[in-house]
Amino acid sequence: MDINKRLALYPGTFDPFTYGHLDIVERALRIFDEVEVTVAVNAGKRALLSTEERCELIRQCTTHLSGVTVAAFEGLLVDYARARRAAALVRGLRQVSDFDYEFQMAFANRKLYPELETVFLMTSEEHALISSTIVRDVHRWDGDLSPFVPPAVMEALQKK
Ligand code: PNS
Repeated sequence: MDINKRLALYPGTFDPFTYGHLDIVERALRIFDEVEVTVAVNAGKRALLSTEERCELIRQCTTHLSGVTVAAFEGLLVDYARARRAAALVRGLRQVSDFDYEFQMAFANRKLYPELETVFLMTSEEHALISSTIVRDVHRWDGDLSPFVPPAVMEALQKK
């Protein structure tokens, strides 16, 4: 089956979607015509937002960008990527400590589906220290989320 060289998937949990994620989507669009933000339904973590909420918020945060789609998936990422005929997975790297986990995932995915490339993009320095885990913690203690997440996400979290 032909691979669609223009399409990359940007998979993740996105609980919630941060400015760091948005930065990676924008960078990926410089390389690929179509970037699908692929939201993992169950990555074995306790979720703050439902899959539908996460997808809807990502849509709202990316309306200004053309070439972005959002979809949820459940199961093995490589099976989904094969079905979508995607050429690549995009993952963001913030700092060296991300690398161990990313390296393992990329190699596991390559063993399972050698034709699929993983492309790592570096976030801007400004976003290098943002993570969804930190955002969830700041939210838990009612801290100001505005430096970390787009307004739509902030509003949704404030209602929680
Ligand atoms: O944002 P995250 O939590 O770092 O994203 C991790 C994710 C969802 C991309 C990863 O856990 C994943 O691909 N899960 C789907 C199951 C799978 O394919 N696992 C094998 C890859 S190592």
